[in-house]
Amino acid sequence: MRAEAESTGDQYYGILAEAYDAYLASTDFNDLSVYENIIRSGDGTALELACGTGRILLPLLEAGHSVEGMDSSDEMLALCLSKGEALPQKQTPVLHQSKMENFELGAKFGTIFCAVASFTLIPTLEAMEQSLICIMSHLEKNGTIAINMDCPSTEQSKPAGKKLAREAVLSDRNITYRCWMETVSPIIVGTERQIMTNELIMSGEVVRSDEVFLTFFRPSPQEFVKLISKVGFRDIQLLDCQGKRPFNFDKDREYLVVAKNP
Ligand SMILES: C[S@@+](CC[C@H](N)C(=O)[O-])C[C@H]1O[C@@H](n2cnc3c(N)ncnc32)[C@H](O)[C@@H]1O
Repeated sequence: MRAEAESTGDQYYGILAEAYDAYLASTDFNDLSVYENIIRSGDGTALELACGTGRILLPLLEAGHSVEGMDSSDEMLALCLSKGEALPQKQTPVLHQSKMENFELGAKFGTIFCAVASFTLIPTLEAMEQSLICIMSHLEKNGTIAINMDCPSTEQSKPAGKKLAREAVLSDRNITYRCWMETVSPIIVGTERQIMTNELIMSGEVVRSDEVFLTFFRPSPQEFVKLISKVGFRDIQLLDCQGKRPFNFDKDREYLVVAKNP
């Protein structure tokens, strides 16, 4: 099946949603404590943007924090909900289906955060600005934002064939999921565009296949800090992805921006 989802937030459906947790089962992002510490130092309820299947949201709820989630994909949100309900101490997360670029939840939050560079799925600086304006309008006075971003790639990304990006073998169900990525020419200058193909394989045969386009926009840390400041956030800190030390321009490939709504 070729589902040419190009609009933002329309990609995490079908095999990708179904296989998401299995793909990441052996990856340690080591980022839960980053957001937990930020939430702990603030007041009120937190909101996780692009919360997906709840990789961070559910452990935060289990630890007793008040956190809600927002994501554009109802399939990812449904998985988050069912995983929460299956936990030994059942959790029923408050979830909102909405796009980060433009949302209105009718509530204010003490902390709003976005992990694993999901914010780079917003494909232009203008759309990021729009999203930051929405974020600010949902943030309590003196509330905190924490946004994890990937640095722009140092090399010009060139179209270079399909590469296996992830594989998950579920032996008990005799299922394998494979995720292939292929860099293609971008439509928007300054972005990276990839075709992602997810396959469901049973008894060695591909029984289903979904294809989507993903566009990543990775502003430089300086450019992103400038944008955050333009929107009106203050006390802006540019940190390493663990939020522990200042960002190192020579070494770090990811950054975390933490800032306040004055
Ligand atoms: C890489 S996953 C991250 C999920 C989760 N935060 C985690 O760390 O595992 C990216 C998530 O962003 C969501 N997403 C993509 N574009 C979005 C948008 N424009 N607005 C809201 N959510 C979006 C996807 O549906 C997906 O769940």
